[in-house]
Amino acid sequence: VDLDRLAIIEAHQLTAKLYNYLLNNTQHGKIAKDYLLDRGLREKQIDHFMIGYAPDQWDTLNRFLTARNFDPVLMEKGGLLSAKNDGSGHVDRFRSRIMFPIWDRDGKVIAFGGRVIGDGGPKYLNSPETMLFTKSRVFYNLHHARPAIRKSKQVVLFEGYMDVIKSWSAGVNNGVATMGTALTEEHCAMLGRQAEEIILCYDGDDAGQAAALKSIPMLEKAKLRVRVSILPKGKDPDEYIEEYGPDTFLREAIDGAATTTKFKLIYSRKNHILLTEEGRKNYLLEAAGIVADLDSAIEREVYLQELSREFNFPLDVLKQDCQAKVLELQ
Ligand code: UTP
Ligand code: MN
Ligand code: MN
Ligand code: MN
Ligand code: MN
Repeated sequence: VDLDRLAIIEAHQLTAKLYNYLLNNTQHGKIAKDYLLDRGLREKQIDHFMIGYAPDQWDTLNRFLTARNFDPVLMEKGGLLSAKNDGSGHVDRFRSRIMFPIWDRDGKVIAFGGRVIGDGGPKYLNSPETMLFTKSRVFYNLHHARPAIRKSKQVVLFEGYMDVIKSWSAGVNNGVATMGTALTEEHCAMLGRQAEEIILCYDGDDAGQAAALKSIPMLEKAKLRVRVSILPKGKDPDEYIEEYGPDTFLREAIDGAATTTKFKLIYSRKNHILLTEEGRKNYLLEAAGIVADLDSAIEREVYLQELSREFNFPLDVLKQDCQAKVLELQ
């Protein structure tokens, strides 16, 4: 079994190199590469993240691996090949996709994420769970980010490949991503061992913000101080950097990431129509409950003052309500 592992790791390393070569040196790869350049990536990032291209053929990788004496059945187990339905051999699992190698924490390629070029679905096809790749335990880019995480005691968590890559060039060297799967307790424990603070930099759409809200208590349980980037409606970090540039991203999304209380206060606005008196009242009730979660009276006061100013509502009334909720919680 150990030899199987080694063979699968070696095959992944070679496959990453092959795909990267095909991206940079073939006519078909050029379409994929132009797509990446068009999205704002540079040669440097393509190299650094070893991005590649799996051609629109059934047997490029199959032949490549077979010629190097890798057992196709083992390669199927490793997630690189698929068995044909009629049992007559194997085909490439990834075809006509931009390939992002996924590394383990030591920098060994253990899986791939493959993106369609342009529109079409599924947008990303990832490696299946294998003896090397367990999604609940892997972060994209952890091997690159680990030194910066340990040094700064801070980690930035993204949703996807492009977010990590774009923000890396913007200077965020402590960024990792969960690649579409929900954050697990295991993920949180791993990060909690290496960092003190986490910045959640999820997509600015409903799904991303809901995921951020859900992740907060899990991360707090792992003893992490949490802050949340609030991106303009619908934008993800990759698009934000493309549109506003790296400096604005660092200032607004990273340095300016909100406290969890602030994030929750903003998030709960979605549920209320603030144009009506009824809506404002219900929002303030919910807001008082969010603020009541804070342990410190000083902190509670700061948020209540803000709410009082913004809604032109008496501070002492907000305080009364909040205090009642604090007592309920005790
Ligand atoms: P998104 O849908 O936000 O994609 O999914 P993205 O990262 O912004 O992709 P681009 O910028 O259009 O290329 C976030 C992450 O979820 C995983 C991928 O890891 C993706 O980066 N995902 C998404 C999948 O695994 N499969 C999918 O079909 C879509
Ligand atoms: Mn490297
Ligand atoms: Mn998303
Ligand atoms: Mn996204
Ligand atoms: Mn994106």
